[in-house]
Amino acid sequence: MLHQTLLSLLACVVSLSSSAVILDNGMPILWAQTASQLTELPIQNDVLMPNPWNFLHRMSLYRLLIAATDPLMGPMGTGANESPFWGLPLQLGWMLTSGRLVDPTGTTACGMETGDTMCISTESWWGCGNYFVSVLPFLSAAHNGLMGEGVPVQMQVPEGVTDLCTTYADCSASFPDAMSKWDTFFQGLKAATGSPLPENEKKDALLGLYWQAQMASTYASATCNTKKSHYSAPEVSFANSWQNSAEYVAAAHFQSNLEKASKFLIPLPGRVLKEGDVAPNIEGLSTEENNSLYTFSWMDSINTTLGGTLVNMWKKAMCSVVAREKGRELLEQVLLTTNYNSFTFMGVLTTMATSC
Ligand SMILES: *[C@@H]1O[C@H](CO)[C@@H](O)[C@H](O)[C@H]1NC(C)=O
Ligand SMILES: *[C@@H]1O[C@H](CO)[C@@H](O)[C@H](O)[C@H]1NC(C)=O
Repeated sequence: MLHQTLLSLLACVVSLSSSAVILDNGMPILWAQTASQLTELPIQNDVLMPNPWNFLHRMSLYRLLIAATDPLMGPMGTGANESPFWGLPLQLGWMLTSGRLVDPTGTTACGMETGDTMCISTESWWGCGNYFVSVLPFLSAAHNGLMGEGVPVQMQVPEGVTDLCTTYADCSASFPDAMSKWDTFFQGLKAATGSPLPENEKKDALLGLYWQAQMASTYASATCNTKKSHYSAPEVSFANSWQNSAEYVAAAHFQSNLEKASKFLIPLPGRVLKEGDVAPNIEGLSTEENNSLYTFSWMDSINTTLGGTLVNMWKKAMCSVVAREKGRELLEQVLLTTNYNSFTFMGVLTTMATSC
């Protein structure tokens, strides 16, 4: 049944000329197959023991995290799926259908159609980076009581893997900045309910804490960088600019809810890039995929040309609740309009930066 679903998703990927499939019935792919209760995950001696190297377990961490925090997400709006966490399971689904979770070394069949399709390879740079934005926030949420009182959690780990943390204590020791920022986010979320701030300011403040935590996790995931050597130069360059783009999104306090995050993720490349792929002219990619890769590459090259100051300028321009609202609109235009002109972007940004 599960295998069938996955095969039809994969077939879909192939027939639509590699456009990434990230939604299934309006939800992240295979969502219906994930755990809706903690007790559906493995428990040994009263310790919850998910296996984050299984796609469905890792996706379950997101489902449980979203369900546990939704009652506190009131400031995000009245819709059903307004939590900024939605961006993460959507990304993980895209990584699966675009072939980014398979063993890139080809030494095992992990993640391949001929092996365990639900296996996330410990050699995948994408799977490694995502560990920091799935396992870390889940452990912090459990530690902060969001999954119920005193639920001890220990992640399963494949034999021979020693560089990834598996418990709250372990992760806090190895990645103190990321873990303390997730703690701050979850504590802020709990405190927001009683806060007298207007809803739009609460929302902006919570999204600020959320992105600080997500970026701290991203920086901590630099430990995955050795795994980049398994990929082609265009894939590494895309991976870098994809990661860099988070800086812009974070500074604008983007609300990565189900609807908005989907819009940004659908144009991401539906297959791993290979040598010779040059945006915006990559064979087999849709117009939107060609275009988003191209946008990423020019934003990177402007930043490089300006000696890294584009990001600083952007961060400076995102100086108030209103400025960040404008920034989010600008990002949408840049990423979703075909052939958006980089000069227009610089013009708008300069105006914004000087009006702070
Ligand atoms: C992406 O670019 C390649 C090369 O120009 C082209 O073959 C392909 O059709 C483009 N995709 C679309 C749908 O524009
Ligand atoms: C911008 O460029 C600087 C210097 O090259 C680099 O360190 C930084 O990672 C880049 N940031 C982004 C968001 O592209």
